[in-house]
Amino acid sequence: MPEPKLTARYPTDLPAWKALKAHHKAISRQQLRELFDEDSNRFEQFCVEAGDLVLDCSKNYLTAETRELLVQLADEAGLRERIDGMFAGEHINNTEDRAVLHVALRAELSDQVGLEEPGVSEVWQTLNRIEAFADAVQRGDVRGATGRRLTNIVNIGIGGSDLGPVMASRALRAFWQPGMRFHSVSNVDGTQLADLTEELAPETTLLVVCSKTFTTQETMTNAMAARQWISGALGERAVARHFAAASTNHAAMDEFGINPEFRFGFWDWVGGRYSLWSAVGLSLALVIGMDNFRRMLSGGRRMDRHFRQARFGENLPVLLGLLGVWYNNFFGAESQAILPYDNRLDRFPAYLQQLQMESSGKRVRRDGRPVKTDTGMVIWGEAGNNAQHSFYQLLHQGTRFVPVDFLLPARSSGGRQPQQDLAIANCLAQSEALMEGHESDDPYRVHPGGRPSNTILFESLTPDVLGQLIALYEHKVFVENAIWGVNAFDQFGVELGKKLAKSLEGAVAASEDYRGGNQSTRGLIARLRRY
Ligand code: F6P
Repeated sequence: MPEPKLTARYPTDLPAWKALKAHHKAISRQQLRELFDEDSNRFEQFCVEAGDLVLDCSKNYLTAETRELLVQLADEAGLRERIDGMFAGEHINNTEDRAVLHVALRAELSDQVGLEEPGVSEVWQTLNRIEAFADAVQRGDVRGATGRRLTNIVNIGIGGSDLGPVMASRALRAFWQPGMRFHSVSNVDGTQLADLTEELAPETTLLVVCSKTFTTQETMTNAMAARQWISGALGERAVARHFAAASTNHAAMDEFGINPEFRFGFWDWVGGRYSLWSAVGLSLALVIGMDNFRRMLSGGRRMDRHFRQARFGENLPVLLGLLGVWYNNFFGAESQAILPYDNRLDRFPAYLQQLQMESSGKRVRRDGRPVKTDTGMVIWGEAGNNAQHSFYQLLHQGTRFVPVDFLLPARSSGGRQPQQDLAIANCLAQSEALMEGHESDDPYRVHPGGRPSNTILFESLTPDVLGQLIALYEHKVFVENAIWGVNAFDQFGVELGKKLAKSLEGAVAASEDYRGGNQSTRGLIARLRRY
């Protein structure tokens, strides 16, 4: 279904934007803690729940009036139509003329999503095939070339074909099936593969080549190197028993020699950074089992329903997205920190980096005109107390204004509740200190306070909850870009560097002259040759 008209109005021209400008002047003069002093019901008013997630956004520069104006901004920017357009399968990725339907990957057959025939049933067929394969590998019905069980699953991919499986497999460590182990290889330099091949036995290793295009330099280089490792140790015929793949490029999977039974397709309406829910999650499903994988899908779907149905003022992704715009465009925040208090979420900030920065790192709008406001913030972060002992100094006393999202599970995912209780105490202490600050006669010890945060609380890090968290942030990014009028689903900015790397390959590897580029590149190549 083609996309109808592109939104033409700049957000800065909308009445709500102008009202928010004036409102910002007033509210930014206030101390955050004063907002609590003024309203004894503040926590209840700004604590919103959906599914298993509790979002406390009371520690923000946010009053009833702010929320109203932000919701008005969403209305005036046409957010409702944009959401409907995504679910209806409109080609909202207008620069690539594609629908954006990762929501269909976690839909029930009865859900109204605008997927062309055969619709969600095709998605389900692939899920069923993944299930049969994952079960067979876990039961030992599918074995390696020497008859040994395949218990070491190695995901070979990069970007969206790596970060999702890696983040989720670490987050869901408590759900790994007996004996199964997850590993990954992504960077092109070959060190990860070198380390893994030292540690793993080829007889028990299943390598999952994960690439939407099956042409990505890093992934194909690593996949070919892994292929040599397997065929060198077990013979060429073992390739068909030790490799599986997820891709939209069936011809390339053929050419590589991927066993037709061990390959799983997906579709061009699944963006790389939104693809964990598709066959890109194959390596994850192999390790946590398909029941858990389906629970993650159902968590995503729960958040989709909430996003679609809840009023904007009580809608978690809408609130997070609007707060993102509020801090980015009105307070001038350049970055946002993601701070999970469960070490198993240690790759969640990296996952969100791609999700948010590849989606929102744009300076041209959907309608081709330059933006007039800043777009994507720099996303960064680290898990819990490790972060406290590293960069929190800057958050508390530095000159930068960095809004924070804390992610906080009540229960330990590692079965050590007393230690998780310590983590919780630390998390609560940090958000309080950031907000309240600390007065002192000694200027070195003053904490100015007034530093805002969201706390996203949940009972425990289950597959269902992880699905809700991922979908929450996917939709948050959607909201921000809908306000800015930006297409969140292309990534042309990564192409130029890739092209240049291709043209430099020969010059770096051989003694071939490099005539392109500039003095600096040529100078560095000349120096490199000395080594
Ligand atoms: O870095 C650019 C990018 O296209 C990402 O969007 C994508 O997730 C990644 O490369 C990997 O692409 P592929 O899955 O095709 O190997």
